[in-house]
Amino acid sequence: MRRLLVTGGAGFIGANFCHYWSAAHPADRVVVLDSLTYAGNLASLAALIDAGRIHFVRGDIGDAERVGALLAAERPDTVVNFAAESHVDRSIEDPAAFLRTNVTGTQVLLEAARRAWGPEAAQRGCRFHHVSTDEVYGSLAPDAAGFTESTPYAPSSPYAASKAAADHLVRAYAHTYRLPCTISNCSNNYGPYQFPEKLLPLCILNLLEGRTLPIYGDGLQIRDWLHVSDHCRAIDLILEKSPPGETWNVGGGTQEPNIIVVGRLCDLIDAAFAADAALARRFPHSPAARGGSGRSLMQHVRDRPGHDRRYAVDSGRIRARLGFQAGTALAAGLEATVHWYLSHEDWWQSVVSGEYRQWYARQYAPQARP
Ligand code: NAD
Ligand code: DAU
Repeated sequence: MRRLLVTGGAGFIGANFCHYWSAAHPADRVVVLDSLTYAGNLASLAALIDAGRIHFVRGDIGDAERVGALLAAERPDTVVNFAAESHVDRSIEDPAAFLRTNVTGTQVLLEAARRAWGPEAAQRGCRFHHVSTDEVYGSLAPDAAGFTESTPYAPSSPYAASKAAADHLVRAYAHTYRLPCTISNCSNNYGPYQFPEKLLPLCILNLLEGRTLPIYGDGLQIRDWLHVSDHCRAIDLILEKSPPGETWNVGGGTQEPNIIVVGRLCDLIDAAFAADAALARRFPHSPAARGGSGRSLMQHVRDRPGHDRRYAVDSGRIRARLGFQAGTALAAGLEATVHWYLSHEDWWQSVVSGEYRQWYARQYAPQARP
């Protein structure tokens, strides 16, 4: 039986991981530490908390005293660090918050684990797993092979630079103090509980509410889409099978330009409205409610500064060594995601707070994105 501390468990991937873990390993104790920023939502964990399957603690990973006390009280043998500022556009607006949480916060957690676990941590089966991103590798040329674990780091945005710095700190703790660490660098996740600032949920909600679908630049930037359930399974495999000190790249194996992915969402929403007349009554502002196409809402807007053109992940190593294969085809994963948002309006209405509406208005003000 493991005792897990999951940081950032009220965010998108962390919450999916808690649902996954509690189903796959019901005997384990799971404690979530999350400061509940705008991106953290207890609504994503409510069912697990109410059922006593996880235990929630509100706190900042950068608060050394709080983290130290929590490790002493809970004595986890496994830390999975999801906590981060995760949105590239926000990192361009205000990089400082990204350095505080992603760099300093990670170092505080590493130090707390080192002190709590002592020099015999590896022998006692302890593990610090750090969740990182493919963005640390920078942008790929159109025909270049995918990122491997030995691709040199070349982060472009303040977000990516902060994640790269955190990865280096994890490696330094593993090397210097023999802290048993692993890192996963994964591609763009999608699925349930994703905050609607990221491309897919933002477009799904805008399609329902009849707002424009902002396509940055020419929309031909390519991302490698990974269903979040596949990502959770990959982390489980890493915890179960990987020796400490290893880094694993995790991709979905589905590269597609943004404009094509957004077009797929439009078609899925159009089809859902055609199949269910109640949707037109629930979402009267959607073009699909009037028999139109969501594609009419697509609009090219000013590009993201320093926008990475393409990411693609070579998952060959985790496939060969740990037996991981992303199982969710993009078409099926997108359809399931659209239906999840259609049937969880209470969740997304509850997370779309005043702060989100202000940020949205600033981000997409006509003068900011002509
Ligand atoms: P998210 O923004 O949805 O959630 C982040 C969570 O961390 C929130 O619950 C937030 O409240 C919490 N948090 C933020 N600062 C904190 C702090 N100082 N102390 C405690 N909690 C804090 O992010 P996500 O999309 O779920 O990403 C999770 C992790 O995976 C991040 O480390 C991110 O860099 C990485 N990642 C994400 C993707 C993706 O596509 N979403 C891809 C690759 C890697
Ligand atoms: O690659 C992994 C990364 O994926 C994670 O590390 C990040 O935490 C996560 O946010 C994500 O970063 P991206 O910048 O790729 O995701 P985002 O959803 O913000 O944007 C996806 C693509 O869509 C990107 O090329 C920018 C573009 N885009 C995004 C938004 C929000 C648009 O064209 N319009 C938009 O409104």
